[in-house]
Amino acid sequence: MYRISELAQQVGLSRSTLLYYEKLGLICGNRLDNGYRTYSEQDVQRVKLLQQLQAGGLTLKECQACLDSQINRESLVQRLAILDEDIAQKQKARELLAAMLGRHSMREWHQNMDSQAPAAHFDWLIKQGFSEKEALRLRWISKDMNTHDSYMNDFFRVFDPLERWGPGSEADTLRALAKVPFVPEQLLEVGCGQGIATTVLAAHCPAPITAVDNHDAALDRLARRAGECGVADKITAVTASMTDLPFADEAFDVIWAESSAYVMGVENAFKQWKRLLTPGGVLVLSDLVWSCDTPDDEVRAFWLNEYPDIGDEKVRIVQAKQAGYEVLDSFVLSDESWAAYYEPLQAQVDALEADMAESSAMRDIKKELAIYRQRGRQFDYQMFVLQKR
Ligand SMILES: C[S@@+](CC[C@H](N)C(=O)[O-])C[C@H]1O[C@@H](n2cnc3c(N)ncnc32)[C@H](O)[C@@H]1O
Repeated sequence: MYRISELAQQVGLSRSTLLYYEKLGLICGNRLDNGYRTYSEQDVQRVKLLQQLQAGGLTLKECQACLDSQINRESLVQRLAILDEDIAQKQKARELLAAMLGRHSMREWHQNMDSQAPAAHFDWLIKQGFSEKEALRLRWISKDMNTHDSYMNDFFRVFDPLERWGPGSEADTLRALAKVPFVPEQLLEVGCGQGIATTVLAAHCPAPITAVDNHDAALDRLARRAGECGVADKITAVTASMTDLPFADEAFDVIWAESSAYVMGVENAFKQWKRLLTPGGVLVLSDLVWSCDTPDDEVRAFWLNEYPDIGDEKVRIVQAKQAGYEVLDSFVLSDESWAAYYEPLQAQVDALEADMAESSAMRDIKKELAIYRQRGRQFDYQMFVLQKR
């Protein structure tokens, strides 16, 4: 037999809790002549079982019902579902903490955060010490802060020798340029990369070109390329972020952005870059879009992961109009434009694959190439020629 203080010690509960349990009839002490209560071994076991049921989320009343009568299956099923949900959430929280300690990949978490709360995710990356440039790269390319540096090294190893970093061609650049309804006087190119479109524009329009990118090595290549093409005197390269362009309002009559606006979000680009255009100025940009309503599951899942903000031509046109532009033209880039990007990329993969067998950057690039081969008429690159109202 146990005194109440002994029972309390055995089960790790306070005296007052046990008295409350007794009042509810959950345990039943024997009062001795001297007024002390005593409890049996059965009471100890009953309290222990009750504690286990409580840990499973049952209320005291439900515990009592479970102990005193037949189990109510329905309420237990409900409790079990809640418990499972709880465990799943705790498991996720555990994985996040372990990932933050570098014990496994944070990729899925970054991707989830980025699609559910992109601004908060971005701010958080900055707080972790990433520069704006690296935080953007992490969102778009490496997707895991623990492996960011090695991923980016591998990524650049594949991409560095390529001339193009996105689909496009001289013919499509010139097709868009022909839709600009005036002779440009000041042209800004955003996310110019190594200047593949810049040099084409410089050769075909008289305007001086300000070419912006946040990757210095790309701008060095642009300078070399411009020299080789004999257009160096028409191009000024500026290292800056497309999210914070250091130019006066209405400084340009044309803004050009081939496969770069997605970095900050095309709708944001429509809104934020507008102030830089003169009234009636023209924004030309290209963007990956759905070209059918029902892409294959694999293709759909891939792009939703890689480019959560992907839209179709109609969506972008609505956004452009809402931001204050008229659509002068919108056309699908040619198959040659795709091939001009993906064929050299495939050749790079073929050359480096054996050496980079363990690389997750290589695995991702191969996945993208596989999706490109399934493209059919599921997705396109769309060129938009928009005039500021
Ligand atoms: C897909 S590439 C396209 C490059 C080039 N327009 C082309 O078609 O080859 C995107 C470019 O945007 C640049 N970029 C990425 N984030 C940027 C940012 N925040 N500000 C300026 N440029 C950025 C990259 O360095 C890269 O050169």
